[in-house]
Amino acid sequence: MNLNDVARQTAAEFAKLYGREPKWLVAAPGRVNLIGEHTDYNDGYVFPMAIERYTVIAAAPTANGSNTVRLASTAMARAVALDLTKPLTPFPKGTWANYPTGVIAGFIARGLKPSGFDALVNSTVPLGGGLSSSAALEVATATLLEVITGTKLDPVEKALLCQKAEHEYASMPCGIMDQFISVMARENHVMLLDCRSRVPELVPMSDPAVAVLIINTNVKHELTGSEYPTRRKQCEAAAAAMGVAALRDATAAMLESAKARLDPVVFKRARHVIGEIDRTLRAAAAVRAADWAEMGRLMYASHYSLRDDYEVSCAELDLVVELAKEIGLQGGVYGCRMTGGGFGGCCVALVRTAEVEAISNRIMSGYKQVTGIEPTLFVSRPAAGATVLKA
Ligand code: GLA
Repeated sequence: MNLNDVARQTAAEFAKLYGREPKWLVAAPGRVNLIGEHTDYNDGYVFPMAIERYTVIAAAPTANGSNTVRLASTAMARAVALDLTKPLTPFPKGTWANYPTGVIAGFIARGLKPSGFDALVNSTVPLGGGLSSSAALEVATATLLEVITGTKLDPVEKALLCQKAEHEYASMPCGIMDQFISVMARENHVMLLDCRSRVPELVPMSDPAVAVLIINTNVKHELTGSEYPTRRKQCEAAAAAMGVAALRDATAAMLESAKARLDPVVFKRARHVIGEIDRTLRAAAAVRAADWAEMGRLMYASHYSLRDDYEVSCAELDLVVELAKEIGLQGGVYGCRMTGGGFGGCCVALVRTAEVEAISNRIMSGYKQVTGIEPTLFVSRPAAGATVLKA
Protein backbone atom coordinates (compact mmCIF):
# COMPACT_ATOMS: atom_id res chain seq x y z
CA MET A 1 0.00 0.00 0.00
CA ASN A 2 1.48 3.37 -0.91
CA LEU A 3 1.39 6.29 1.48
CA ASN A 4 -1.64 7.95 -0.12
CA ASP A 5 -3.64 4.74 0.21
CA VAL A 6 -2.67 4.35 3.87
CA ALA A 7 -3.63 7.99 4.47
CA ARG A 8 -7.01 7.53 2.77
CA GLN A 9 -7.68 4.39 4.77
CA THR A 10 -6.70 6.13 8.03
CA ALA A 11 -8.99 9.08 7.30
CA ALA A 12 -11.89 6.71 6.59
CA GLU A 13 -11.28 4.77 9.80
CA PHE A 14 -11.08 8.04 11.73
CA ALA A 15 -14.45 9.13 10.34
CA LYS A 16 -15.98 5.79 11.30
CA LEU A 17 -14.65 5.99 14.84
CA TYR A 18 -15.22 9.65 15.67
CA GLY A 19 -18.09 10.54 13.35
CA ARG A 20 -16.36 13.39 11.51
CA GLU A 21 -13.55 14.02 9.03
CA PRO A 22 -9.98 14.43 10.32
CA LYS A 23 -8.55 17.93 10.11
CA TRP A 24 -4.95 16.75 10.15
CA LEU A 25 -3.07 13.82 8.61
CA VAL A 26 0.61 13.14 9.26
CA ALA A 27 2.99 10.27 8.52
CA ALA A 28 6.38 9.01 9.65
CA PRO A 29 8.30 6.05 8.16
CA GLY A 30 9.87 2.99 9.74
CA ARG A 31 13.50 2.24 8.95
CA VAL A 32 15.93 -0.48 8.10
CA ASN A 33 19.54 -0.16 9.19
CA LEU A 34 21.92 -1.28 6.42
CA ILE A 35 24.87 -1.44 8.82
CA GLY A 36 26.13 0.12 12.06
CA GLU A 37 24.31 -1.93 14.70
CA HIS A 38 24.57 -1.12 18.39
CA THR A 39 26.95 1.70 17.60
CA ASP A 40 24.65 4.70 18.11
CA TYR A 41 24.85 4.71 21.91
CA ASN A 42 28.63 4.40 21.60
CA ASP A 43 28.88 7.74 19.78
CA GLY A 44 29.63 5.81 16.57
CA TYR A 45 28.18 5.80 13.06
CA VAL A 46 24.98 4.23 11.76
CA PHE A 47 23.75 3.80 8.17
CA PRO A 48 19.95 3.46 8.07
CA MET A 49 17.35 4.30 5.42
CA ALA A 50 13.64 4.97 5.85
CA ILE A 51 11.34 2.34 4.33
CA GLU A 52 8.08 2.68 2.44
CA ARG A 53 6.13 1.61 5.52
CA TYR A 54 4.47 4.32 7.53
CA THR A 55 2.68 5.20 10.70
CA VAL A 56 -0.12 7.58 9.80
CA ILE A 57 -2.11 9.60 12.33
CA ALA A 58 -5.45 11.22 11.54
CA ALA A 59 -6.64 13.80 14.06
CA ALA A 60 -9.09 16.63 14.67
CA PRO A 61 -9.82 19.08 17.51
CA THR A 62 -12.18 17.64 20.14
CA ALA A 63 -15.81 18.12 19.17
CA ASN A 64 -16.81 19.66 22.53
CA GLY A 65 -13.72 21.82 23.06
CA SER A 66 -12.60 19.80 26.09
CA ASN A 67 -8.97 19.54 27.15
CA THR A 68 -8.82 15.82 26.49
CA VAL A 69 -6.72 13.86 24.04
CA ARG A 70 -8.22 10.63 22.83
CA LEU A 71 -5.76 8.18 21.28
CA ALA A 72 -6.92 5.11 19.40
CA SER A 73 -5.09 2.68 17.15
CA THR A 74 -6.38 0.40 14.39
CA ALA A 75 -3.99 -2.31 15.66
CA MET A 76 -4.71 -2.07 19.37
CA ALA A 77 -7.89 -2.86 21.24
CA ARG A 78 -7.34 -0.32 23.98
CA ALA A 79 -7.88 3.39 23.37
CA VAL A 80 -6.80 5.91 26.00
CA ALA A 81 -7.80 9.39 27.09
CA LEU A 82 -5.35 11.99 28.43
CA ASP A 83 -6.55 14.83 30.62
CA LEU A 84 -4.40 17.82 29.63
CA THR A 85 -5.38 19.79 32.74
CA LYS A 86 -3.28 17.33 34.79
CA PRO A 87 0.40 16.36 34.52
CA LEU A 88 0.90 13.39 32.18
CA THR A 89 2.43 10.17 33.49
CA PRO A 90 3.31 6.86 31.80
CA PHE A 91 0.79 4.03 31.53
CA PRO A 92 1.86 0.57 32.74
CA LYS A 93 4.83 -0.86 30.85
CA GLY A 94 3.90 -2.29 27.47
CA THR A 95 0.97 0.05 26.82
CA TRP A 96 1.20 1.24 23.20
CA ALA A 97 -0.08 4.71 24.10
CA ASN A 98 3.09 5.39 26.08
CA TYR A 99 4.86 6.42 22.87
CA PRO A 100 2.47 9.19 21.82
CA THR A 101 1.86 10.20 25.44
CA GLY A 102 5.59 10.64 26.03
CA VAL A 103 5.86 12.86 22.98
CA ILE A 104 2.89 14.99 24.04
CA ALA A 105 4.49 15.31 27.49
CA GLY A 106 7.71 16.44 25.78
CA PHE A 107 5.89 19.17 23.86
CA ILE A 108 4.17 20.35 27.03
CA ALA A 109 7.52 20.43 28.87
CA ARG A 110 8.83 22.54 25.98
CA GLY A 111 5.99 25.05 26.60
CA LEU A 112 3.97 23.80 23.63
CA LYS A 113 0.66 22.68 25.05
CA PRO A 114 -1.87 21.50 22.47
CA SER A 115 -5.60 21.90 22.94
CA GLY A 116 -7.66 18.72 23.13
CA PHE A 117 -7.85 16.46 20.09
CA ASP A 118 -9.00 13.06 18.89
CA ALA A 119 -6.48 10.88 17.05
CA LEU A 120 -6.34 7.54 15.29
CA VAL A 121 -3.07 5.73 14.60
CA ASN A 122 -2.77 3.37 11.65
CA SER A 123 0.51 1.73 10.69
CA THR A 124 2.01 -0.41 7.95
CA VAL A 125 5.29 -0.76 9.85
CA PRO A 126 5.27 -4.32 11.27
CA LEU A 127 4.95 -3.96 15.04
CA GLY A 128 7.92 -5.13 17.08
CA GLY A 129 9.73 -6.38 13.97
CA GLY A 130 12.92 -4.37 14.39
CA LEU A 131 11.83 -1.80 11.80
CA SER A 132 11.26 0.98 14.34
CA SER A 133 7.51 0.95 14.60
CA SER A 134 7.91 2.77 17.92
CA ALA A 135 10.08 5.55 16.50
CA ALA A 136 7.63 5.94 13.61
CA LEU A 137 4.81 6.37 16.13
CA GLU A 138 6.78 8.89 18.17
CA VAL A 139 7.85 10.90 15.16
CA ALA A 140 4.35 10.86 13.65
CA THR A 141 3.02 12.16 16.98
CA ALA A 142 5.66 14.90 17.09
CA THR A 143 4.79 15.89 13.52
CA LEU A 144 1.12 16.10 14.49
CA LEU A 145 1.94 18.20 17.55
CA GLU A 146 3.99 20.57 15.38
CA VAL A 147 0.93 21.12 13.22
CA ILE A 148 -1.46 21.48 16.15
CA THR A 149 0.76 23.92 18.06
CA GLY A 150 1.88 25.75 14.92
CA THR A 151 5.55 25.32 15.88
CA LYS A 152 8.08 23.57 13.72
CA LEU A 153 10.89 22.18 15.85
CA ASP A 154 14.47 21.98 14.72
CA PRO A 155 14.79 18.41 13.31
CA VAL A 156 17.50 17.44 15.81
CA GLU A 157 15.45 18.70 18.73
CA LYS A 158 12.42 16.87 17.37
CA ALA A 159 14.31 13.57 17.13
CA LEU A 160 15.77 13.99 20.62
CA LEU A 161 12.36 14.78 22.08
CA CYS A 162 11.07 11.51 20.60
CA GLN A 163 14.07 9.58 21.96
CA LYS A 164 13.37 11.03 25.41
CA ALA A 165 9.76 9.86 25.18
CA GLU A 166 11.01 6.34 24.49
CA HIS A 167 13.42 6.49 27.44
CA GLU A 168 10.95 7.92 29.92
CA TYR A 169 7.60 6.55 28.80
CA ALA A 170 8.58 3.19 27.29
CA SER A 171 11.59 2.53 29.59
CA MET A 172 13.74 1.68 26.58
CA PRO A 173 17.20 3.33 26.75
CA CYS A 174 17.54 3.49 22.95
CA GLY A 175 20.10 5.46 20.97
CA ILE A 176 19.29 8.18 18.45
CA MET A 177 19.28 6.27 15.16
CA ASP A 178 15.62 5.39 14.76
CA GLN A 179 14.18 8.81 15.55
CA PHE A 180 16.79 10.65 13.45
CA ILE A 181 16.13 8.63 10.32
CA SER A 182 12.34 8.81 10.72
CA VAL A 183 12.55 12.62 11.00
CA MET A 184 15.30 13.39 8.48
CA ALA A 185 15.30 10.69 5.80
CA ARG A 186 15.31 11.63 2.16
CA GLU A 187 14.00 9.59 -0.79
CA ASN A 188 16.68 7.53 -2.55
CA HIS A 189 19.26 8.28 0.15
CA VAL A 190 20.81 6.32 2.97
CA MET A 191 21.79 8.33 6.04
CA LEU A 192 25.32 8.13 7.41
CA LEU A 193 24.75 9.55 10.87
CA ASP A 194 27.59 10.56 13.15
CA CYS A 195 25.93 9.87 16.50
CA ARG A 196 28.42 12.07 18.35
CA SER A 197 28.12 15.29 16.34
CA ARG A 198 24.57 14.29 15.32
CA VAL A 199 25.32 15.50 11.82
CA PRO A 200 23.72 13.33 9.13
CA GLU A 201 25.18 12.87 5.66
CA LEU A 202 22.71 11.74 3.02
CA VAL A 203 24.35 9.25 0.65
CA PRO A 204 22.50 8.71 -2.65
CA MET A 205 21.44 5.14 -3.40
CA SER A 206 19.21 4.96 -6.42
CA ASP A 207 20.82 2.33 -8.68
CA PRO A 208 17.78 0.48 -10.05
CA ALA A 209 19.90 -2.67 -10.49
CA VAL A 210 20.19 -3.24 -6.73
CA ALA A 211 17.38 -3.65 -4.21
CA VAL A 212 17.08 -3.73 -0.46
CA LEU A 213 15.16 -6.85 0.54
CA ILE A 214 13.75 -7.07 4.05
CA ILE A 215 13.05 -10.50 5.51
CA ASN A 216 10.91 -10.59 8.63
CA THR A 217 11.53 -13.81 10.60
CA ASN A 218 8.22 -13.17 12.35
CA VAL A 219 9.76 -14.24 15.63
CA LYS A 220 10.47 -12.09 18.61
CA HIS A 221 12.33 -13.48 21.59
CA GLU A 222 11.32 -11.45 24.61
CA LEU A 223 14.87 -10.67 25.64
CA THR A 224 15.33 -7.21 24.19
CA GLY A 225 13.94 -5.57 27.29
CA SER A 226 16.72 -6.71 29.60
CA GLU A 227 19.53 -7.44 27.14
CA TYR A 228 19.68 -3.97 25.57
CA PRO A 229 20.49 -2.03 28.77
CA THR A 230 22.98 -4.77 29.70
CA ARG A 231 24.82 -4.27 26.38
CA ARG A 232 24.92 -0.53 26.96
CA LYS A 233 26.48 -1.04 30.39
CA GLN A 234 29.07 -3.48 29.04
CA CYS A 235 30.08 -0.90 26.42
CA GLU A 236 30.39 1.80 29.07
CA ALA A 237 32.52 -0.52 31.20
CA ALA A 238 34.84 -1.20 28.25
CA ALA A 239 35.19 2.51 27.47
CA ALA A 240 35.90 3.34 31.12
CA ALA A 241 38.55 0.59 31.34
CA MET A 242 40.32 2.08 28.32
CA GLY A 243 40.00 5.60 29.67
CA VAL A 244 37.93 6.92 26.75
CA ALA A 245 34.62 8.78 26.76
CA ALA A 246 32.94 6.27 24.44
CA LEU A 247 33.92 3.24 22.34
CA ARG A 248 33.97 5.61 19.37
CA ASP A 249 37.32 6.81 20.72
CA ALA A 250 38.87 3.35 21.06
CA THR A 251 40.83 1.45 18.43
CA ALA A 252 41.35 -2.28 17.91
CA ALA A 253 44.93 -1.85 19.13
CA MET A 254 43.81 -0.10 22.31
CA LEU A 255 41.37 -2.89 22.97
CA GLU A 256 44.04 -5.56 22.44
CA SER A 257 46.33 -3.93 24.97
CA ALA A 258 43.51 -3.64 27.50
CA LYS A 259 42.49 -7.28 27.01
CA ALA A 260 44.07 -8.61 30.22
CA ARG A 261 42.18 -6.06 32.28
CA LEU A 262 38.80 -6.69 30.70
CA ASP A 263 36.13 -9.20 31.47
CA PRO A 264 36.10 -11.55 28.43
CA VAL A 265 32.45 -10.80 27.65
CA VAL A 266 33.01 -7.04 27.89
CA PHE A 267 36.03 -7.50 25.59
CA LYS A 268 33.86 -9.22 22.96
CA ARG A 269 31.19 -6.54 23.16
CA ALA A 270 33.75 -3.81 22.62
CA ARG A 271 35.37 -5.73 19.75
CA HIS A 272 32.01 -5.76 17.98
CA VAL A 273 31.41 -2.05 18.43
CA ILE A 274 34.90 -0.96 17.39
CA GLY A 275 34.81 -3.20 14.31
CA GLU A 276 31.26 -2.18 13.43
CA ILE A 277 32.02 1.54 13.49
CA ASP A 278 34.87 0.92 11.07
CA ARG A 279 32.68 -1.27 8.84
CA THR A 280 29.99 1.40 8.76
CA LEU A 281 32.37 4.04 7.40
CA ARG A 282 33.66 1.56 4.84
CA ALA A 283 30.09 0.68 3.88
CA ALA A 284 29.21 4.31 3.22
CA ALA A 285 32.29 4.53 0.98
CA ALA A 286 31.18 1.35 -0.82
CA VAL A 287 27.70 2.77 -1.48
CA ARG A 288 29.20 6.05 -2.76
CA ALA A 289 31.34 3.98 -5.14
CA ALA A 290 28.45 1.63 -6.05
CA ASP A 291 30.70 -1.23 -4.92
CA TRP A 292 27.89 -3.60 -4.00
CA ALA A 293 30.11 -6.64 -3.56
CA GLU A 294 32.14 -4.80 -0.91
CA MET A 295 28.95 -3.58 0.77
CA GLY A 296 27.72 -7.18 0.86
CA ARG A 297 30.93 -8.48 2.45
CA LEU A 298 30.65 -5.83 5.15
CA MET A 299 27.05 -6.84 5.84
CA TYR A 300 28.01 -10.48 6.38
CA ALA A 301 30.91 -9.44 8.63
CA SER A 302 28.53 -7.27 10.63
CA HIS A 303 26.16 -10.19 11.11
CA TYR A 304 28.83 -12.59 12.30
CA SER A 305 30.12 -10.01 14.75
CA LEU A 306 26.60 -9.43 16.11
CA ARG A 307 26.11 -13.17 16.37
CA ASP A 308 29.43 -14.15 17.95
CA ASP A 309 30.72 -11.08 19.81
CA TYR A 310 27.66 -9.03 20.61
CA GLU A 311 25.38 -12.08 20.94
CA VAL A 312 22.15 -10.39 19.91
CA SER A 313 21.20 -12.69 17.02
CA CYS A 314 19.06 -15.83 17.21
CA ALA A 315 18.68 -19.10 15.31
CA GLU A 316 16.03 -17.69 12.95
CA LEU A 317 18.08 -14.63 11.94
CA ASP A 318 21.18 -16.81 11.49
CA LEU A 319 19.20 -19.18 9.29
CA VAL A 320 18.08 -16.37 6.98
CA VAL A 321 21.67 -15.16 6.61
CA GLU A 322 22.89 -18.68 5.82
CA LEU A 323 20.12 -19.16 3.24
CA ALA A 324 21.08 -15.86 1.62
CA LYS A 325 24.74 -16.84 1.63
CA GLU A 326 23.95 -20.16 -0.04
CA ILE A 327 22.25 -18.30 -2.88
CA GLY A 328 25.35 -16.16 -3.03
CA LEU A 329 26.61 -13.62 -5.51
CA GLN A 330 25.90 -16.00 -8.35
CA GLY A 331 22.23 -16.06 -7.44
CA GLY A 332 22.13 -12.28 -6.94
CA VAL A 333 22.72 -11.82 -3.20
CA TYR A 334 25.49 -9.36 -2.30
CA GLY A 335 25.09 -9.57 1.47
CA CYS A 336 22.69 -10.11 4.32
CA ARG A 337 22.58 -9.39 8.04
CA MET A 338 20.24 -9.01 10.97
CA THR A 339 19.01 -5.44 11.43
CA GLY A 340 17.84 -3.53 14.49
CA GLY A 341 18.21 -4.47 18.14
CA GLY A 342 18.21 -8.25 17.53
CA PHE A 343 16.70 -11.37 19.16
CA GLY A 344 14.28 -11.74 16.25
CA GLY A 345 12.73 -9.28 13.87
CA CYS A 346 14.25 -8.71 10.46
CA CYS A 347 17.22 -9.35 8.25
CA VAL A 348 18.20 -6.96 5.49
CA ALA A 349 19.74 -8.19 2.25
CA LEU A 350 21.27 -6.32 -0.64
CA VAL A 351 20.30 -8.10 -3.85
CA ARG A 352 20.23 -7.74 -7.62
CA THR A 353 16.82 -6.37 -8.56
CA ALA A 354 16.42 -8.81 -11.44
CA GLU A 355 16.70 -11.74 -9.03
CA VAL A 356 14.44 -10.46 -6.23
CA GLU A 357 11.66 -12.92 -6.89
CA ALA A 358 13.83 -16.01 -7.17
CA ILE A 359 15.79 -15.02 -4.04
CA SER A 360 12.63 -14.33 -2.06
CA ASN A 361 11.14 -17.66 -3.00
CA ARG A 362 14.26 -19.58 -2.01
CA ILE A 363 14.59 -17.84 1.35
CA MET A 364 10.89 -18.20 2.03
CA SER A 365 10.78 -21.95 1.40
CA GLY A 366 14.12 -22.67 3.08
CA TYR A 367 13.11 -20.75 6.17
CA LYS A 368 9.68 -22.31 6.35
CA GLN A 369 11.06 -25.79 5.91
CA VAL A 370 13.34 -25.48 8.94
CA THR A 371 11.25 -23.35 11.29
CA GLY A 372 7.68 -24.05 10.21
CA ILE A 373 7.17 -20.29 10.29
CA GLU A 374 6.04 -18.20 7.33
CA PRO A 375 8.46 -15.26 6.90
CA THR A 376 7.37 -11.95 5.38
CA LEU A 377 9.53 -10.47 2.63
CA PHE A 378 9.38 -7.10 0.92
CA VAL A 379 11.54 -4.71 -1.04
CA SER A 380 11.79 -1.02 -0.24
CA ARG A 381 13.45 1.96 -1.87
CA PRO A 382 14.90 4.50 0.57
CA ALA A 383 11.88 6.60 1.54
CA ALA A 384 11.41 10.19 2.73
CA GLY A 385 11.12 11.23 6.38
CA ALA A 386 8.06 12.41 8.30
CA THR A 387 5.51 14.52 6.40
CA VAL A 388 2.33 16.48 6.93
CA LEU A 389 -0.30 15.17 4.48
CA LYS A 390 -3.16 17.42 5.52
CA ALA A 391 -3.16 20.52 7.72
C1 GLA B 1 17.33 -0.26 18.60
C2 GLA B 1 17.55 1.14 19.19
C3 GLA B 1 18.56 1.92 18.36
C4 GLA B 1 19.84 1.12 18.12
C5 GLA B 1 19.51 -0.29 17.64
C6 GLA B 1 20.73 -1.16 17.53
O1 GLA B 1 16.71 -0.16 17.36
O2 GLA B 1 16.35 1.84 19.23
O3 GLA B 1 18.84 3.16 18.98
O4 GLA B 1 20.62 1.09 19.28
O5 GLA B 1 18.57 -0.93 18.48
O6 GLA B 1 21.59 -0.68 16.55
